Amino acid sequence: MCGIVGYIGGEQAAPILLDGLARLEYRGYDSAGVAVYTGEELEVAKAKGRLQVLSDMLQGGRAIQGCTGIGHTRWATHGAPSDVNSHPQVSRSGRIAVVHNGIIENYSALKQFLERQGVPFTSQTDTEVVAQLIEYFYEGDLLQAVGRVLHRIEGAYALGILCADTPDQLVAVRRDSPLILGVGEGENFLASDVTAILKHTREVIYLEDGEVAVLTREGVRCYNHFLQPVEKQTSHVDWEIDAAEKGGYEHFMFKEILEQPEALRRAIFPRVQDGQVCLEDFPLTDEDIQGMRKIYIVACGSSYHVGMVGKYNLEGLLRLPVEVALASEFRYQQPIVDDRTLVLVISQSGETLDTMAALREAKRLGGKVVSIVNVMGSSIARESDGVLYTWAGPEIAVATTKAYSTQLAVLNLLGLYLAQRLGTVAQEEYQTIVQELLLLPAKMEQVLENRADIQYYASQYFNHASVFYIGRNLDYALGLEGSLKLKEISYIHSEAYASGELKHGTISLIEQGTLVVALATYSRLFEKAMSNVVEVKSRGADVLALTTEGHREEMGKVANGLVTIPDTHPMLLPSLGVVPLQLFSYYVALMRGCDIDKPRNLAKSVTVE
Ligand code: G6P
Repeated sequence: MCGIVGYIGGEQAAPILLDGLARLEYRGYDSAGVAVYTGEELEVAKAKGRLQVLSDMLQGGRAIQGCTGIGHTRWATHGAPSDVNSHPQVSRSGRIAVVHNGIIENYSALKQFLERQGVPFTSQTDTEVVAQLIEYFYEGDLLQAVGRVLHRIEGAYALGILCADTPDQLVAVRRDSPLILGVGEGENFLASDVTAILKHTREVIYLEDGEVAVLTREGVRCYNHFLQPVEKQTSHVDWEIDAAEKGGYEHFMFKEILEQPEALRRAIFPRVQDGQVCLEDFPLTDEDIQGMRKIYIVACGSSYHVGMVGKYNLEGLLRLPVEVALASEFRYQQPIVDDRTLVLVISQSGETLDTMAALREAKRLGGKVVSIVNVMGSSIARESDGVLYTWAGPEIAVATTKAYSTQLAVLNLLGLYLAQRLGTVAQEEYQTIVQELLLLPAKMEQVLENRADIQYYASQYFNHASVFYIGRNLDYALGLEGSLKLKEISYIHSEAYASGELKHGTISLIEQGTLVVALATYSRLFEKAMSNVVEVKSRGADVLALTTEGHREEMGKVANGLVTIPDTHPMLLPSLGVVPLQLFSYYVALMRGCDIDKPRNLAKSVTVE
């Protein structure tokens, strides 16, 4: 989390840094700061709160003059959000400034060591230790000093470093935390995310773990952990800058909800040729696939919820056991993985630290790792045996929408691909699912067109203190995502339950007027879903139901409110069903006056454990 930007070139640095930070603010937003070399010294400006506070303080950047600088937007880990704990952190002389993303795990021991040498500390951050330690080792060569520090710090970090004694260079370092270099003409950039610099250059260098870079106006030099030079390839990024801008919408989240049909087209259409699913560069041979004994799906947050849907769909299609694990649990639970296990790692950002650690553990155990990732060149993509990109385009709102939908589509495509090779799906069924996948974007457009209904229901229920989502099987997996969406952006307490479990405890929480969102899209279990609706209604619940067109009439007789989606193949119901749930959360949060794109305490990319 946290966003980093650095600039060295011929332009004024501060406006460029602030603009870059604005594009990264979704990564963390409790405080922000910049350090710019003014010609004699480093001028540092920091402010608690949103980036706007800093930007106003600096008159959009005009208040600091200088052509080299680093900037940061923070999501606090060590030390509460405050001016003093904001980055950049500076050394005691004020001549070395550092921005940092990640956690220095042994900072306490290093701090004690420095304090014994008489170094005073002003903040509670782990980052200040890095700035002080660089100064401690600095003997006129910044790169050498950084090299010595790297052998002493442990943890995850992306660092941007500026020294007033060597203002013709910026130093960048990464380990387990994303950092890219942007290569321009007469100017160069560093950033934790490509969206920060897309306005200036599309040529980027992806740093590998343990690598160090020195940026000057003229060029970029890269080194390994031992400061031996390494050759790096430049990659071209073809994302459009307007894809990362609001384009007239009030919120990124709303824009991204509406972008889903198009994102699905990008994810699905090129992968279906003559009615067959084609996965380019799929790393498993037919022999590997025949030998597969088990599938693990590992992810966090909404990506994990995609995995939950995937479990039902893949087990149905492949007749193989599929286990879904939270990445943060997987690595500590002694997972049973071997060379006949396919491990599917799902991550929008491709940088989530827990997911990355789970991937490494799976590889260590001999599993074959295929990842489903949105961000090209991200760490998870690069470390997997194979990667299936979701091609959703940049997703900026913290609450994911189009990444969820495209992950689900790609997972379904993968299921079909594997099922065909295993011979576990009848040809007719295969064709039906493929056809329905191709129709999915248009059906989703129909759902989006009916958003006024959902807005109306949001206006009825936005004041509720607690909401329950219930469903069975695929509808349960869908409920998990609906419930998460609601709580993360509207701050309403909500829980998702497998309907059959209600009677084992949760039903005691249902009282007069409790809102229950009943998910009943799955035809096979519709009657059972109806029974659960009646059950909660008879305890006083207000039921907002989601079902398919085909069941509209029946459900309409019992539910207080009703939203429908077009009929489709059962496997694809969650892909359509999620849209009304996203919209419901969005409208509820809007009516409650919440900061939808940047919900409190959250961050888009979670690169700490
Ligand atoms: C954060 C985001 C979620 C996301 C989760 C996993 O919590 O707010 O929207 O689902 O991380 O992120 P990933 O990038 O690995 O999919």
